[in-house]
Amino acid sequence: MDIQKVGVVGCGLMGSGIAQVAAMAGCHVVVHEVTAELAQKGFARIHGSLAKLVEKGKLPADAAEATKARLKSTTQLADLKECDLVVEVIVENLDAKKKLFAELGKLCKKETIFASNTSSFPIGEMADASGRPERFVGLHFFNPVQLMKLVEVIRGAKSLPDVVESTRAFGAKVGKSPILAKDTPGFVVNRLLVPLLHEAVLMVERGDATFRDIDTGMELGCGHPMGPIKLLDYVGLDTTLSILEGWHARFPNDPLFKPSALLKQMVKEGKLGRKSGKGFYEWEGDKVKG
Ligand code: CAA
Repeated sequence: MDIQKVGVVGCGLMGSGIAQVAAMAGCHVVVHEVTAELAQKGFARIHGSLAKLVEKGKLPADAAEATKARLKSTTQLADLKECDLVVEVIVENLDAKKKLFAELGKLCKKETIFASNTSSFPIGEMADASGRPERFVGLHFFNPVQLMKLVEVIRGAKSLPDVVESTRAFGAKVGKSPILAKDTPGFVVNRLLVPLLHEAVLMVERGDATFRDIDTGMELGCGHPMGPIKLLDYVGLDTTLSILEGWHARFPNDPLFKPSALLKQMVKEGKLGRKSGKGFYEWEGDKVKG
């Protein structure tokens, strides 16, 4: 199937990025949010990102206008019924996701492919809840979606090969390099990345090195664009904690997944990183202060 009409459920940071790259690639995109205000906020983020691309000479102004014209918002799930692909990008809550897919399963045409952008839950349970597990995959983008070149396509136990292939082709169409992964915790990237970020927190907790020196070590010693503590701040301490807690609940005997006291304490204090303006670093928008 050549995916032309895309539904995106949730227009937060990731959802707006996914809607944007799909519309830039020529797809017609219907974005669902629970309120018109939230949709407006997401669209403002998209318009800001398009303006930045135009300003940098990376996108012609008329292409930005055409992209905007391909984006529609709605608060009615039924408006997604004709989509070839619906990507779920709502809050990381498994029950909420299962409920959403059960509803979409009743509303959408039978050919619609369902995809979840989850970074932490197994896709199998959501696939079953949708009533069409053979047309269900994981489609995991990376933050910031507009710039990161990777997308993971996760094959569920029951996903049909042509559904996986159509979704992989969609990933390539929106300018990403898709990699295929099985439905295992963290898929490929987060299985490696989350323990790395967490080990850096444990190093700070043990007093092995300062968080700045840990970051300098990985930036200059390994060529990472952001050291692990900066990246943890960038991704969100709460997001990382919730991924670890989900894995710890499923694999209580694996010490790698046991969240550190420092991480839990900082989340409790509202030090979430970039999104709250303070984590290990102080943030001003997308940049570390000073
Ligand atoms: N839209 C359009 N343009 C944007 C943009 C956006 N949203 N954000 C930044 N830009 C532009 C900037 O204006 C800038 O343009 P110029 O180069 O023309 O000046 C360019 O993109 C680069 O931006 P920055 O100056 O902010 O540049 P940077 O060189 O510091 O790169 C970065 C920023 C790409 C985020 C880089 O630091 C990086 O790669 N960091 C690591 C990010 C990463 O690892 N992400 C994965 C997180 S894990 C995840 O997402 C999975 C999960 O489930 C937790």
